[in-house]
Amino acid sequence: MNKKRLYKALSKKTDETFRPLFHFSPPVGWLNDPNGFCFFDGKYHLFYQHNPYSSHWGKMHWGHADSADLISWHNLPIALFPDTKNDNFFGCFSGSAIEKNGKLYLMYTGVPFLKQHQVLAESIDALTFIKHEKPVISSENRPPLCGKFSFRDPKIIEKNGGYFACIGAAYGKGRQIALYSSIDLSDWKFVGSLIKEQEKTNGIFECPDLIEFADTDLLIYSIMYTETRGMEYQNIHSSVYLLGKTDWQNGVFTPSDAQKELDSGCDFYAPQTTKTPDGRTVMIAWMQNWLRSNPTSYLGHGWAGAMTLPRELQIQNGVLFQKPVREIYNYFDENKVSKNAVIDGETSFEGILGEVFLLKIWCLEMPKNFGIYVRKASGHFTYIGIADGILSFDRTQSGHKIKGSRLDGDCNVRRCDISEETFLDMEIFVDTASVEIFVNRRFCMSSTIYPIPGCDGISFDGKAEAEISFSLFNSRKKFE
Ligand code: FRU
Repeated sequence: MNKKRLYKALSKKTDETFRPLFHFSPPVGWLNDPNGFCFFDGKYHLFYQHNPYSSHWGKMHWGHADSADLISWHNLPIALFPDTKNDNFFGCFSGSAIEKNGKLYLMYTGVPFLKQHQVLAESIDALTFIKHEKPVISSENRPPLCGKFSFRDPKIIEKNGGYFACIGAAYGKGRQIALYSSIDLSDWKFVGSLIKEQEKTNGIFECPDLIEFADTDLLIYSIMYTETRGMEYQNIHSSVYLLGKTDWQNGVFTPSDAQKELDSGCDFYAPQTTKTPDGRTVMIAWMQNWLRSNPTSYLGHGWAGAMTLPRELQIQNGVLFQKPVREIYNYFDENKVSKNAVIDGETSFEGILGEVFLLKIWCLEMPKNFGIYVRKASGHFTYIGIADGILSFDRTQSGHKIKGSRLDGDCNVRRCDISEETFLDMEIFVDTASVEIFVNRRFCMSSTIYPIPGCDGISFDGKAEAEISFSLFNSRKKFE
């Protein structure tokens, strides 16, 4: 690492116009996947795929921040640099963290020329990390039928005093999630393929995660190049889950239900979970997707990318529920305005406006035709609608344009089937550059937006149905 070059990169002045207030974003440079998300020594730690030298992807470092409450993050020095023969080509790719005997261990994918292998680094203070000299799962020890360049993103799981790691990999022309086991974090053995697709696929499964709940296991993974199926898999790459049971002896996962998407918005990828000291399973993801233009990059703001709000995951009667971590509500304690109204045509209400806010909307019956405009002014707006059982999001007129690749379809409009829901309990979190929608704690849509500062209008639209209740929580001051 060239210290002068790094110092110059880190002290570059950034433009803060789109800096989120309650989402983690990198102080400078580029961010993608969350890595090493964990609780260690009294604090939450979040590492992330990071290029400090530019607001575009490049040789990967692990950026680092810590937090007492999962919402306010404090930047720490870069944890991993691409500075050894094990990672000197594309750098230190995604991975996870685990505590063992008071030390914090990171397992990441090292990417030297034309290879991917798993490397361990350790730390006593979670500030300085010492990399082990040899990869702990070398490329030679990769799973059956896996090419050298498609073996990445280890997630370590502690179980019965030992360790497992699930890792994304190729499987012939298809793909798999490989399970490895170890008793000491150093010596790893291949156990089996948790899931595999044998037919030809475009790209592999990335960033797998496996969590045990009381009666079922949850397997999370991100799929490269998914084919759009109606309203599902509209993004070029999609993050999904399976519920089922893990056979840890043979390394096989048997799903009990169909594969589902975790989020139907424009920007959600590579989620990772951790356990909180009070036993919650919390998930955080990169609020972006690949092959998209990014306004803070093309406007020259000197930074790019943010994480989603961390979410608590729960499984009840075979259904996955996702809700924002409870800590976020401490930041919105001021209930500004509450109203009940029958909406007939576009309507706005006194006092209901804002750039950064939480809007809660509920109704005993699911409205048939209802919509909300947020960040509205001078021809700009972001639209969230419910019409005939479909939840939709539209950022076409939000502000600075976002373009997707040819394979992405229209990357500014998303839809999601909520037709089985009978009531509405919706939360909309709007930050400087994002909108996250939670419906009945089951359906989530996360998307970035880049509105012109000052667009603070909120209005409702609908066709005179039942009374709808809404509350605006707006306490920007708390974040400053
Ligand atoms: C997922 C991913 C990972 C990889 C990392 C590289 O977004 O492609 O598979 O480790 O990003 O930055």
